[in-house]
Amino acid sequence: MCGIVGYLGQRDCTEVLMDGLEKLEYRGYDSAGIAVFEGRDIKTVKTRGKLTAMKEKLEREGRPQGHCGIGHTRWATHGEPSDANSHPHSNGRVTIVHNGIIENYAELKQFLTEQGYTFLSQTDSEVVACLLDYYYSERNPLHAITETLKELRGSYALGIIFKDFPERVYAARCGSPLIVGVGQGESFIASDIPAFLKYTKDYVLLEDNEIVRLDTEGVMFFDVHGIQISKERRIAEWDVEQAQKCGYPHYMLKEIHEQPGVVQKTLDSLTKDGIPDFTDIGLTDDMLRGFNKVFITACGTAMYAGIVAKYAIEKLARVPVAVEIASEFRYMDPIVGENDLVIVVSQSGETADTKAALELAKERGAKTLAVVNVKYSAIARLADICINTLAGLEIAVASTKAYSVQIASLYLLAFRFAYAREAIDADELKRLTAQLAKTPEVIQNIIDRCDECQFIASQLVNTETLFFIGRGFDYALSLEGSLKLKEISYIHSEAYAAGELKHGTISLIEQNIPVITIATQSHIIEKTISNMEEVKARGAFVIAICRKGTTFADGTVDLKLELDFGELNDMLVPLPTVCALQLIAYYSSILRGNDPDKPRNLAKSVTTE
Ligand code: AGP
Repeated sequence: MCGIVGYLGQRDCTEVLMDGLEKLEYRGYDSAGIAVFEGRDIKTVKTRGKLTAMKEKLEREGRPQGHCGIGHTRWATHGEPSDANSHPHSNGRVTIVHNGIIENYAELKQFLTEQGYTFLSQTDSEVVACLLDYYYSERNPLHAITETLKELRGSYALGIIFKDFPERVYAARCGSPLIVGVGQGESFIASDIPAFLKYTKDYVLLEDNEIVRLDTEGVMFFDVHGIQISKERRIAEWDVEQAQKCGYPHYMLKEIHEQPGVVQKTLDSLTKDGIPDFTDIGLTDDMLRGFNKVFITACGTAMYAGIVAKYAIEKLARVPVAVEIASEFRYMDPIVGENDLVIVVSQSGETADTKAALELAKERGAKTLAVVNVKYSAIARLADICINTLAGLEIAVASTKAYSVQIASLYLLAFRFAYAREAIDADELKRLTAQLAKTPEVIQNIIDRCDECQFIASQLVNTETLFFIGRGFDYALSLEGSLKLKEISYIHSEAYAAGELKHGTISLIEQNIPVITIATQSHIIEKTISNMEEVKARGAFVIAICRKGTTFADGTVDLKLELDFGELNDMLVPLPTVCALQLIAYYSSILRGNDPDKPRNLAKSVTTE
């Protein structure tokens, strides 16, 4: 939930670090800082606020001049956003940046205080700097690191510099992502690849309990005992352009517009001869026939993609599917075992709760399938089988294209599941797959109607609370539409199964409360319309998002967005419809003066509990 960077080379280190932090700002942005060697001294500049505040401070106080250093952009976990709580943290000969949570920091702080250490911040991270200094007595950085790591409990990605070694950067990780960039005569550490993509595409994934040293000789890797190890180098599939806005005002709008292409790419990668084919990733029809039950566990938007998948798999394959919030699943002692399939969905592949749920599922002997957007991420590497979605780099905190490629992949899985269990025949399999293949075009048609979505958003701009309602697939979509809106517009929004509203919550409906109704499921449209009439009768401002040609009694609907899905099966309608909800959320955020790419209190990848 924070971004860390480090650099050693011949470039202007301050520029490289600030550039990298800008690319990682989506990971946290309540404070920032850098520490750069100037000769044998370390100059640290840090401040509360976004990177713009940091740039102003650098202009005021002077930019550190050097070629080696570390940097950090923070999402506060311990201690409010403040100059003192900003990273980097220094103590004695050591300066560090940290992403993660040190769970035993209080007892370590107590011990270090007894050793005479004093603390300037309320953070858990500063304790790591002190502990490293405590073990640095022999002036051996690697020894200090291995001894310190033995005592840490929790999660960390650390960037570390030692004052006596002005041309070295160390890093270590456990539970939080850290990647090493390898250039010509220069090297980098970062929480995510975009931070150094403009300088090199060669990278190495640091795994849990591994250490790396950048120095003028190059890059060396060690295990947690300080024993040198060798690591595989990889080439990033993304290019610099994907890490930029390319003319769009926000990453979120760019990523919404990328959906037709990335959905097409993802569908093509999982389809052979017109039908879904997962044999390349090791998922066979025999396996699909053998599962008694399916669990889908994830967080946030990824979980809501799982709910769409639940409805599709149960409808077609007739196998029970339970969707579980990952942070619940991991602690609820779930009844899961060998004949079950546990699907974990994660854009980043690094979400701590989802990773922990996956680890639990494996312990219980279930077969595990990950649907991730970041190849080689922790979750991708941990699962038995992995579907790599091809949304490309998703930078905006609010997930859009990742959700779309998640449900596109999961629809294909649902089709194959049903075919493997002989719930549908080969012709139906081909027909459904062909229908799904048409969705990119339908998605584009909806994105082209962004003006109408902007108008709907303009009707919400002064709202402080609203509801989304729907039934079946429309309910699943309401959940995602509600999250998208509230997380970037800060309007309080709740999603409800339309039939459930009258069991209590309808008491909150009063004059002009907006109720956004998703009404696309023809087999239950009358029931949904009844619910619309119920809220309308109580003064609600009813917005209908429906299939083109849907009619409502006079006075039921205040605003209507009719979407042309062509011949698309109702089951597939969430895939294009979500784009309208994303655009409504995006414009609501803009109209309320927010930054949709960096909503308050949020971070792109929640790598702590
Ligand atoms: C999405 O808009 C949210 N920012 C958030 O709910 C996100 O989907 C969730 O944190 C899961 O992230 P993941 O897909 O990377 O695991």
